Amino acid sequence: MTSKRANYVCECKAVFRNEIVNSIKKGHAQTLLDIQNLTKASTGCGRCKNQVEWIINTELEKKRKHGLQLRLNL
Ligand code: FES
Repeated sequence: MTSKRANYVCECKAVFRNEIVNSIKKGHAQTLLDIQNLTKASTGCGRCKNQVEWIINTELEKKRKHGLQLRLNL
């Protein structure tokens, strides 16, 4: 059985991955500071910082590829 705690990216601030992803997709967050301000993730002990940065980079890369795809389809 998986505990609810295991689903948090940031356990200190109880932030889920989808909150970070949505902040990037809908809130246009692009940096760790943006995510910290919008979700409070990675504003506690800092243990999740690398994972939050990885999510940011992954989602921004997806947005870049999607944007390129849209331009190619015009
Ligand atoms: S786990 Fe994210 S700040 Fe501690």
